[in-house]
Amino acid sequence: MNSPTLAEVRAWDKHDPLAPFRAAFALPEGVIYLDGNSLGPLPHATQARLAGVIAQEWGTGLIRGWNDAGWMAAPARTGDKIARLLGAAPGEVIVADSTTVNLFKLVAAARALHPERSTLLTEAGNFPTDRHIVDGLAGLLPKLRVKTAASDQMASAMDGDTAAVVLCHVHYRSGARYDMAAMNAAAARCGTTIVWDLSHSAGAVPLSLAADGAEMAVGCGYKFLNGGPGAPACLYVTAALQDHVRSPIQGWIGHASPFGFSDKYEPAPGISRFLSGTPGILGLAALEAGVDLFLAAPPAAIWAKAARLFDLFRCLAATSCPALELLTPTDPSHRGSHIAFRCPQAASVMQALIARGVIGDFRPPDVLRFGLTPLYTRYEDVWNAVEAVEQVRKEGLLF
Ligand SMILES: Cc1ncc(COP(=O)(O)O)c(C=O)c1O
Repeated sequence: MNSPTLAEVRAWDKHDPLAPFRAAFALPEGVIYLDGNSLGPLPHATQARLAGVIAQEWGTGLIRGWNDAGWMAAPARTGDKIARLLGAAPGEVIVADSTTVNLFKLVAAARALHPERSTLLTEAGNFPTDRHIVDGLAGLLPKLRVKTAASDQMASAMDGDTAAVVLCHVHYRSGARYDMAAMNAAAARCGTTIVWDLSHSAGAVPLSLAADGAEMAVGCGYKFLNGGPGAPACLYVTAALQDHVRSPIQGWIGHASPFGFSDKYEPAPGISRFLSGTPGILGLAALEAGVDLFLAAPPAAIWAKAARLFDLFRCLAATSCPALELLTPTDPSHRGSHIAFRCPQAASVMQALIARGVIGDFRPPDVLRFGLTPLYTRYEDVWNAVEAVEQVRKEGLLF
């Protein structure tokens, strides 16, 4: 892309097929929000939905809500909706717990398929929870150790001793994306399973879990899916594997017959065995509203706009702030939906940007991250954000 003029950028917004979606979000005046990769903004529909759940379903329906208001079915119903975004079939995704807890459940389940193997493999320097979970499991289970590798060594680091692999599909800092099909093929050659962490992929990039041979994955509800702070997470297990794996958290809601109140645990058939305890209905209702809004948008328009937002940011920043070092791969198929730069004094730069109403985030030691979320971000927002970065550089002499 060559640097466009402001008039051209405004024309892109004018003809943007996704432009009407912006009004569906409660975005505060005077703020350019480029942190939807951390916490998505509030959809207006969520406010109305939560008010209804609280006043009618809970307030009036009381405990009858579990059946009458469809609360019991909400984890699977919302999971089926998210499955459409992940390229999975109905019955392959369920909503439960947090991403971290779901990772624990799936890594333990994957490892139990290969009790004779002694290695859990993950990427060095990726999101800490992934590493902490495998370290914690290795501490719990005898003869299990953790091996790490750099992303470009990951495929060759898998071998016949690899019990399970945990990989962040899109790197939380750089935005670099693995080739999912190629990695799953490498795992299959070693007879092991990758548990994909889709925190920065679900709602950020096109996904085809089934076609790409993915067996297990977890995803985050509060980032690109706009499910609200601490929204419940999702969990995917390919249908063929579901009845051969078990959750290490044998809660009553994952029982085949929760209301049989049996002493003996018997896992529910299918993906429901990965439920743990009573689902949080307010969180689920907010997540479902966010997912419904996302599903209302045409996917091709989302991915095309995400690519153009990225190119616009990259090209404007390269011209006006050459001291910013781009960390994110430029090929759209090799990255997620945020743009990251290495920048001297990045923490102070981000504070100065936030003071000017441009909200991105800082990741230590020196990374500026900006989320590019097509449903509510305008091209002109990117123009103004880069202008703010340039002002910070000029006025604050920070870099
Ligand atoms: C890649 C990745 N995995 C996992 C998590 C943690 O998710 P949670 O705190 O919801 O369990 C995050 C949170 O930002 C993340 O970025």
